[in-house]
Amino acid sequence: MERLQVNIPGTTAYDVMIADGLRRELNEYIADSYSSILIIADRHVADLYMDDITNVLKTRGNIFCKVIPPGEGTKSMEWYDRLLDYCISCNLDRKSLIIALGGGMTGDLAGFVAATYLRGISYIQIPTSILAHDSSVGGKVAINHKAGKNLIGAFHHPDKVLFDTEMIDSLPLKEKRSGYGEVVKHALLSDKSWFDEIMERELKELENHKAARDLIRGVRLKASIVEQDEKEAGVRKYLNLGHTLAHAIETELDYGSVTHGEAVVIGIIFALSLSGMEEERNRLLVWADNNGYPLEVVGELDERKLLEHMKRDKKAERGKINYVLLQAVGSPYVSHVEEDELLHALKQFKNEVIE
Ligand SMILES: NC(=O)c1ccc[n+]([C@@H]2O[C@H](COP(=O)([O-])OP(=O)(O)OC[C@H]3O[C@@H](n4cnc5c(N)ncnc54)[C@H](O)[C@@H]3O)[C@@H](O)[C@H]2O)c1
Ligand SMILES: [Zn+2]
Repeated sequence: MERLQVNIPGTTAYDVMIADGLRRELNEYIADSYSSILIIADRHVADLYMDDITNVLKTRGNIFCKVIPPGEGTKSMEWYDRLLDYCISCNLDRKSLIIALGGGMTGDLAGFVAATYLRGISYIQIPTSILAHDSSVGGKVAINHKAGKNLIGAFHHPDKVLFDTEMIDSLPLKEKRSGYGEVVKHALLSDKSWFDEIMERELKELENHKAARDLIRGVRLKASIVEQDEKEAGVRKYLNLGHTLAHAIETELDYGSVTHGEAVVIGIIFALSLSGMEEERNRLLVWADNNGYPLEVVGELDERKLLEHMKRDKKAERGKINYVLLQAVGSPYVSHVEEDELLHALKQFKNEVIE
């Protein structure tokens, strides 16, 4: 069992526990002081794991379950509203707990419900996807607006994060790919030898213990950044590596065919080009291609529309696009990039990736 603590100075501290089969021992790690518990999971995850969780918690009174449709489309105002209705119909009070059982979509949505219902109640993240090693730590919760990703949200930290690494074995390949988008990001932000290791990973044959190790390293990095800068005034901005273009792609494709992490990998390749890091860029491009990342989608998108989305990104300031770039692996910085330069680079990038 790996146990680490996230310490947000002046705000809160919570444990992240990571272990194989952890879901069978939840009773030990979830306090019995909550008046009732609402477990929210999407249908895929509920079919696989809801019974395990409710069985373990069945000695507690007042357990409610809500199954929501899978997919980024559910991280919406409509489902936020429905979940609030459900909380009210279950009479959840201030001492109640919401459990977000699932990937980042469920974590962000259920977390935002917890952040706002009765001005905020407790929640626990039980992440089930590789990607959620990132989203479950750090307290950012949100829903999407049709104008852009995560435009409505809050900072609300979980009471705990309980990660059962056994559950990543049931992830479809596309979702492993998506998760590795954030893993690659964490490696590039921190450690060249880790990046080298990942460039050896074949996601089709991903071994659980290697994935678990990557998750633990990712959580450690994310926790250390969030501890230094909870509200993204400084170093937390680095976690947006690859995300300016990724969010533009996702918005342009209406959160459809490309997953978040797949878009992040495309965004990171582009950021490495802008950074002039040719060697890493080329290695990542080959790795992404070999592992089935949908690089070709960029070819179909209009660069002017992508640029418009980038300008509307919530990280843009007064319409200026700030980009996370790298001096070297482990040395990120933020720089303003001119629109003309971006447009030119996007055109070039499109031509290169569709070759
Ligand atoms: N809050 C943050 O700091 C933060 C950080 C990164 C990403 N995010 C958000 O996370 C979301 C993406 O997360 P995601 O990729 O986990 O998406 P997701 O929750 O939609 O899960 C992806 C798919 O995998 C399925 N799934 C999840 N766990 C499974 C398992 N163990 N076995 C089988 N299938 C499983 C889900 O049902 C879904 O179909 C995006 O909305 C993104 O904006 C948030
Ligand atoms: Zn992300």
